[in-house]
Amino acid sequence: MDRPVEHSLLDTGVQAVISRPIDRIDGPRKVSGKATYAAEYQLENMAHGFLVSAKFGRGRINRIDVEAARAMPGVLDVLVDLDAFIRNPQQGAQAEAPEQGVRDVQYYGEPVALVVAETFEQARAAAHEVVIDWQPEPGCFDFEGRLETAEKPSGGFLEAHHNQGDIDAAMAAAEVTVDAVWTTPSQNSAAMELHASIAVWEGDSVTLYGSLQMPAYNRKQLADALDLPLEQVRIVSAYVGGGFGSKLGIASEAVAAAIASRKLGRPVKAVMTRQQVFDATVRRSNTRQRIRLGATRDGRLLAVGHETLCSNLEREDFFEPAGAATHFLYAGEARRITHDIVRMNWLLSGSMRAPGEAAGMLALECAMDELAEKLELDPVDLRKRNDPPVDPETGHRYSTRQFVECLDEAAQRFGWEARNRTPGGRREGEWLIGHGMAAAARSNLLHKSEARVFLTPEGRAVIETDMTDIGTGTYTILAQIAAEILGLPVDRIDVCLGDTRFAPAAGSGGSWGAASSGSSVYLACQSLREKLAEAMGCTAEELVLKDGKAICANRSQPLESLIGSGLSAYGKIEPGSMQKETRQAAYGAHFCEVKVNAVTGEIRVVRWVSRFASGRILNEKTARSQCIGGIIFGIGAALSEELLHDPRNGKIVNRDLAEYHVPVHADVPHLDVEFLPERDPFANPLHAKGLGELSISGAGAAVVNAIYNATGMRVRDYPVTLDKLLPGLPPV
Ligand code: MOS
Repeated sequence: MDRPVEHSLLDTGVQAVISRPIDRIDGPRKVSGKATYAAEYQLENMAHGFLVSAKFGRGRINRIDVEAARAMPGVLDVLVDLDAFIRNPQQGAQAEAPEQGVRDVQYYGEPVALVVAETFEQARAAAHEVVIDWQPEPGCFDFEGRLETAEKPSGGFLEAHHNQGDIDAAMAAAEVTVDAVWTTPSQNSAAMELHASIAVWEGDSVTLYGSLQMPAYNRKQLADALDLPLEQVRIVSAYVGGGFGSKLGIASEAVAAAIASRKLGRPVKAVMTRQQVFDATVRRSNTRQRIRLGATRDGRLLAVGHETLCSNLEREDFFEPAGAATHFLYAGEARRITHDIVRMNWLLSGSMRAPGEAAGMLALECAMDELAEKLELDPVDLRKRNDPPVDPETGHRYSTRQFVECLDEAAQRFGWEARNRTPGGRREGEWLIGHGMAAAARSNLLHKSEARVFLTPEGRAVIETDMTDIGTGTYTILAQIAAEILGLPVDRIDVCLGDTRFAPAAGSGGSWGAASSGSSVYLACQSLREKLAEAMGCTAEELVLKDGKAICANRSQPLESLIGSGLSAYGKIEPGSMQKETRQAAYGAHFCEVKVNAVTGEIRVVRWVSRFASGRILNEKTARSQCIGGIIFGIGAALSEELLHDPRNGKIVNRDLAEYHVPVHADVPHLDVEFLPERDPFANPLHAKGLGELSISGAGAAVVNAIYNATGMRVRDYPVTLDKLLPGLPPV
């Protein structure tokens, strides 16, 4: 993508299928049980693995005693030194590696062994008989007590520190300021489907059926872990029951299953329990965010400070980029946006839905609300006054930016004019009523992605790419893109995903999936159009493809007549200078009404309006579903989601879906979500931008701003549970 694509093949709308809210083409397969998820593959002679986890927060394992476990019924093997096995795969049946599991443990629940048995239940029972001989080492379990030790990350894919101008001077000069600290807790992705792997070997090659977001990348990870050439690893991830970041990378059960399977010469299935998913797959880091905003009396920002501390294990580079949207959302000359890591012996932290914006806008958008109040300005107005004409850091143009339009449309639909204007001032019986709003913003990304599309002699189109559909609608939108460009009804498109035998795709992450994999399908179909035009004896510009017919001037013939024994084309998209020369992001606005019970502090979200501008919408139904899901995530972040680490050893104590509270159906009102018309020619040939993670961004802040409006209480410590409101509620 080195230049804007002025005219998209999706513009013509000849087949009239793009953007339509059509049902998921994989829906019938899913509801009839025909969509096979990772743990559901039925292989001959399959053995079952169960992970054994360390039950201490930091220490050294001297020895793992597996004798009792081995004696349990059905037990085939206990693997305690997976590293040694990778170093020497030929050790085969030799029972014990010399190290006998000697290793360091960095966090409570870290997987250290795998028991393999004939059945899952036998493996699980035997896992309880594994005895770990260990000695404790001093661990870091008190985040607040360790803030001083925070260090600048050495890597990461985003700039960790950005300084522009003199923020201290700008704050001192500002007439109105906000300077406060917000904290957000560790969170779990809580995908419905557990992390699961089935490994099977054929000679020196392994196939892993996994629940994974990025097969091309996961293939490389597994090849690295097993010290194998890429060609000897195949990943299959055809259906994924949610990932939200927790399945961007392979987890321990995948490597363990692959090693066990090779050693035993049988397929091995390893499925994490829900508790293991909580203990041993990535969490979203907790954060401590200091926001400083300084403005003139008329509400123009002079200073924007966003300093984030997050946590991770020693030597891990990933940091929660909470200031991601702060870089480009609002104007302001002096800027300081930093991220530092506090080293903790807590579970590894990594990406979870909208890493950065999801946590960061919980702070930034509440700070903006506080600033608006001090300025006696409508918070919508404050945001509009600080809508920059170009990126405030790079000076680059925005590719497209309809932030103000989103604010206006959502405000109008919500009835913002009729909002409660006195915090704590509107009461209906026991309930205090409040209204709040917040911005949504999320960077747009494009990743290298490839696809093959071929036309069969029967006139069907087949798409092959190792892209995934993690519940987002990829199967459907790829079919729509091909259908539109090739002039075929959607039911004449077959979409084959999630197998590294197909062309390598960008995978599902960072909201780049639809744009990246969709563009590769677009480009393949564009080549096919050219081939069809040639067969038709006209130019691609003259050719019209519609309803399975090729039309040129006054000639029309069925597509099949041009295909011969089959036509095939590759498409490949790569990011280019457009991503550097323009600031690409999607925008939105959230408005909500909450009621807070004046007696109990119970908080209910009762009304919601969001508007988003995210380039072309490829399928209105799947897009809206993404946004509804994101907003619900935001409600969870505001009100209930919180991993609690035991202060003695870092153990996550609420490690299941009964104790880790995500919103349920009854917690969510009707969510009024609509999209503004938009085309972004700088983003990709589809003119679409990333959407999935846009909607979580800012959503929780709208809830908390509404809680303030209802009660007059600013809670800056997420989640805002009722106990934090009780002390400030009016006397009964
Ligand atoms: Mo996303 S957190 O990149 O799955």
